[in-house]
Amino acid sequence: MYEYQAPENLLQDKIILITGAGSGIGRAAALSYAAHGATIILLGRTEEKLNAVYDEIEAAGYPQAAIITLNLETASETDFDNLAATLEQEFGRVDGILHNAGILGVRTPIESYDPIIWQQVMQVNVNSAFMLTQALLSLTNDSEDASIIFTSSGAGRTGKAFWGAYAVSKFATEGLMQVLADELEHNPNIRVNAINPGATRTDMRANAYPAENPESNPTPEEIMPLYLYLMGRDSRTVNGQSLNAQ
Ligand SMILES: NC(=O)c1ccc[n+]([C@@H]2O[C@H](COP(=O)([O-])OP(=O)(O)OC[C@H]3O[C@@H](n4cnc5c(N)ncnc54)[C@H](OP(=O)(O)O)[C@@H]3O)[C@@H](O)[C@H]2O)c1
Repeated sequence: MYEYQAPENLLQDKIILITGAGSGIGRAAALSYAAHGATIILLGRTEEKLNAVYDEIEAAGYPQAAIITLNLETASETDFDNLAATLEQEFGRVDGILHNAGILGVRTPIESYDPIIWQQVMQVNVNSAFMLTQALLSLTNDSEDASIIFTSSGAGRTGKAFWGAYAVSKFATEGLMQVLADELEHNPNIRVNAINPGATRTDMRANAYPAENPESNPTPEEIMPLYLYLMGRDSRTVNGQSLNAQ
């Protein structure tokens, strides 16, 4: 596991948006960031799941969260602009974005890959992350210490048979992260990096490896040290890196 011990107040007064915050790794990150002092904007497509995380944050006495219900597969440029306008009005800035939402698509050869599913995967995993980042950049520019984190995968570093659009979307995510990091290199107040979570006990992992014993993989909570490190001030000088949570 990535070794990092986060100070209790690491994310005090930070405004952090997390996509796919209703379940899996995104839910764990929301609770972990909130426990370290951040106000979390929970973005996802399933309202009940977001409400449940909101309630958990409230019950724990962490800073009150906000909920944005948005389907990243169908969201338009206007939706992202409206979201940015709402956040500007409510918070005035954004200190962190964790691009975490993702879908697996199907595991099948390229020869028979359904083009509709291909486009859905690319839309959720990479195109929406591009549009959301673009819409929020003026708000992260208003932060004195902003961190943008993309979510990669081992499947996005070495091409492997049958991983189709998922793998291609993760290669593209690494590229998007590197291009943006290079563009912002001159600005010491913002950094852009990616996390490869590694095999983690979530619904997505269970769908990808149905025969695997889920207990053989760490929980989302266990992989949080790298998520905290890259979101907090201790990674201020780290930019353009793709790091492994495990
Ligand atoms: N788990 C692993 O072993 C592993 C390994 C490498 C990389 N990753 C990456 O880590 C990230 C989190 O994965 P996970 O394992 O936590 O997966 P997960 O349990 O399936 O969670 C994915 C999250 O994304 C949300 N989401 C999916 N489609 C969406 C859409 N159209 N609009 C808005 N939100 C949407 C889901 O919302 P709903 O619950 O409402 O569907 C869910 O909250 C993904 O980017 C994944 O590729 C995971």
